[in-house]
Amino acid sequence: MNQPHLAIVGATGAVGAEMLVCLEQRNFPVGRLTLLASARSAGRTVSFRGEEIPIRELTHDSFEGVDIALFSAGGGISKEYAPSAAAAGAVVIDNSSAFRIDPDVPLVVPEINPGAVARRPHNIIANPNCTTIVSLMALKPLHDAFGLRAVIASSYQAVSGSGAQGILELEEQVRALANGDPVTPRVYPRQIAFNVIPQVDAFTDNGYTKEELKMLHESRKILGLPELKASCTCVRVPVYRSHSVSITAVFDKPVDAAAARAAYNGRPGVKVVDDPQNQRFPVPLDTTGGDDCLVGRIRENLVLDNALDLWVVGDQVRKGAALNAVQIAEIL
Ligand code: A2P
Repeated sequence: MNQPHLAIVGATGAVGAEMLVCLEQRNFPVGRLTLLASARSAGRTVSFRGEEIPIRELTHDSFEGVDIALFSAGGGISKEYAPSAAAAGAVVIDNSSAFRIDPDVPLVVPEINPGAVARRPHNIIANPNCTTIVSLMALKPLHDAFGLRAVIASSYQAVSGSGAQGILELEEQVRALANGDPVTPRVYPRQIAFNVIPQVDAFTDNGYTKEELKMLHESRKILGLPELKASCTCVRVPVYRSHSVSITAVFDKPVDAAAARAAYNGRPGVKVVDDPQNQRFPVPLDTTGGDDCLVGRIRENLVLDNALDLWVVGDQVRKGAALNAVQIAEIL
């Protein structure tokens, strides 16, 4: 594919806008660029490489001549329009959860399972859940070293994971509370400013949220470990950007913290920041706008055998979404 024709569905959203930044920063070869969003945005322009590109309304006919279509406008839009894009000959890279568990749709983190893009019978490739990507960037080198068996995790997820509306809600609530005004939650079930909310996505019948189950099912698929056990509590925190995850990981082989740190040597996309005596550990502000996931607080678990505790932080708009999708496009 030479200088491909790219389409971005959801180009006005938080992830769509970051996809444009990633394409520019990574010098991705773009022959033509079609930017798509809802009728509300049609007619607006967005600047890309110094050029003003018009936003068009998404329709089933939007994909003629498109080589790669990056979707980030929610699961409903993906379900409805991704098949049209694929039928028109585009390879779809879908950021939603619509197709992730379909056995005929590869679920890809380029640093972990790049080869999976080759078998894509529907011409659709899925971008994994953001918390799953950030967690697996930390877990894969340890899996290679010690053999991953089980994961127990708690996430601290930024509001940008809910898109532009989540960012706006936090901003509005902080401003309102500073002025002594009341707040009315719209995006989140409770006030998010100066609070934490132990619900990300909808609850399922077994007491877990969909987000928490994505960690289990998607990790199994990406790592090729159908027997992997994983239990997760996903929490929304009043942070603008970058998800953090506290992980306890259990392995087949004996572990030690120094060997775990060494396992990250030479691994692209993940770096160790782990010198707690000198207050060196990753925080969300360290990764915001950056490509690397940062891992710290690596230590042997005091309760379980062959287990490590660790803390990983990554910019979920970039590595958790836009950057990962652009990296998949680079493989193509
Ligand atoms: P629009 O800005 O026109 O509403 P975010 O996740 O940041 O909220 O962004 C969602 C993205 O999905 C936006 O680009 C939004 O476009 C787009 N979108 C939402 N609904 C539709 C729709 N019915 N058709 C096309 N794009 C949509």
